[in-house]
Amino acid sequence: MNDQKEIKKVFSIGSGGDFAFSFLSAQGLEQIEEINVCDVRQMANISIDFKIGLFKNLEYEETLKLFLGQELFYKEQIYKKIRETIILPSRKIFDFILRNCKEDNFLKCLKNSGLWYKNSFWQIKNKTEYLPYLATKEKYLLLQKNLDKISIYSGDFNENLKLFKDNYFALIYMSNILDSKKYCQEPNKYLQAAREKLNGRGLLFIITQNNSKKMVKLVEGHGFYACEKELHKFNIISCFFGHYSYSLLLFKKNE
Ligand SMILES: C[S@@+](CC[C@H](N)C(=O)[O-])C[C@H]1O[C@@H](n2cnc3c(N)ncnc32)[C@H](O)[C@@H]1O
Repeated sequence: MNDQKEIKKVFSIGSGGDFAFSFLSAQGLEQIEEINVCDVRQMANISIDFKIGLFKNLEYEETLKLFLGQELFYKEQIYKKIRETIILPSRKIFDFILRNCKEDNFLKCLKNSGLWYKNSFWQIKNKTEYLPYLATKEKYLLLQKNLDKISIYSGDFNENLKLFKDNYFALIYMSNILDSKKYCQEPNKYLQAAREKLNGRGLLFIITQNNSKKMVKLVEGHGFYACEKELHKFNIISCFFGHYSYSLLLFKKNE
């Protein structure tokens, strides 16, 4: 990625938290000061907070075994380790979930809760591609060191982005939210705000499953130019293997 040394402040869609975790585990990005993640789904934010608690308190090997279901982790044992680390609303929800889960197995309780971002459970099998922060112990250790750089915001992406000063961010990440009216009624307003909040050399990273040419045209119409593209079209075979066919588009602000 160009200018990566200049990326200090980031705003990102929350989702499963994987973007923020991956970023904070990457070599050469130690200068990052803050990653602000935002999701309109309260449960997404609760699960990000919970994952932060897990990663702070579990060794690399434990986390892998837990998510791969290679060992039985008793819910009380695991939860005791992280309960004090998570915020009060997360604690209340997880107290309830674990108390009412008939299983002893922590992973099963998580899966049954429906709260967790479901993709995380199968993506672990393709961790290098989807969950790079779990790909090696080194990356995980780096992530652990940086977890306090994450702040979580609840509510609409644009409303939260607008809380920050103009020219504040070096990178804004929008994954899929411009793809659907369900996520974003007014793409123009989101792109306008992104331009205002990005600094002079700011980067806008967009992931889309829609027509990438149309997306480039839309974004370029708001004072950006596409500097890197990784295009993927829908492919039924990849789909069977659980791979996405999203395109990755990186934009810079026009001078
Ligand atoms: C389809 S998921 C993106 C998954 C993606 N592949 C990733 O990087 O994690 C979109 C996420 O954005 C959230 N979302 C959608 N519209 C939003 C909005 N306007 N403001 C904040 N979050 C939004 C959804 O709740 C969901 O968690």
